Amino acid sequence: MVKPKTSAEIEIMREGGHILAGILNLVIKKIKPGVGTKELNDLVEKLIKEKGGRPSFKGYKAAWAEHVYPSALCVSVNDEVVHGLAEPNRILKNGDIVGLDCGLEYKDFYTDIARTVAVGRVSKEAKKLMAVTEEALGRGIKKAKAGSRLLDVAKEIQSQVEKNGFSIVRQLVGHGVGYQAHEEPQVPNYISNDFKNIKLEKGMTLAIEPMVNAGSWEVETLDDGWTIVTRDGSLSAHFEHTIAVGEKGGDILTIL
Ligand code: MF3
Ligand code: CO
Repeated sequence: MVKPKTSAEIEIMREGGHILAGILNLVIKKIKPGVGTKELNDLVEKLIKEKGGRPSFKGYKAAWAEHVYPSALCVSVNDEVVHGLAEPNRILKNGDIVGLDCGLEYKDFYTDIARTVAVGRVSKEAKKLMAVTEEALGRGIKKAKAGSRLLDVAKEIQSQVEKNGFSIVRQLVGHGVGYQAHEEPQVPNYISNDFKNIKLEKGMTLAIEPMVNAGSWEVETLDDGWTIVTRDGSLSAHFEHTIAVGEKGGDILTIL
């Protein structure tokens, strides 16, 4: 189970999280029609190196995956939910929405961030999907306070998403983070008895990351072994912050 971090440890994570948020922000400034996903990844790798960190996704071996994840940045376009690949021939085009997800190891601590952004002009539905997902994350983070329960966060995120007519992905969830890229507990974005509804303690560090589909919640994995897509081909958005549980709510560590 994620161990509550000391305030000194949280300050190191805040430093890493600040660097990571800055890097993602620079990448987002590059997003426009015609940009290649590999270019974006290479920029992330260069910036992380300059800061003395290590891209934690690159070479990551998930229990269920046949191959390690090949790059620093996950780039998930349109119906891709998460873990899309930053390949040389993938070019962003006007009207796409693109999820950018990145993990950093810095001074022995891990942080994790994701945002979904528009490429050029996107549909009204795409705009709404991104706005609702970001808002749901923000509301969930406010619920991550000492003395609350893990599923209080999930309930808040799920209700915000479903009242807007969208659905929460179920096969993938958030996680504890800090000493490792993934720590217990799993941090779901929907209510279910499958998860341990632990009591949140001050200093627990969590990656909260709603993945929201415009259509049904079901997803599947492409033959590349990594890319997760919506089963019905509908659009999907993903926002993530690393937070520390505080007295009044989650303290966002991955912030500019
Ligand atoms: N934000 C996701 C996660 O940690 C991305 C993982 S990508 C991987 O949970 F490459 F590291 F697997
Ligand atoms: Co994560």
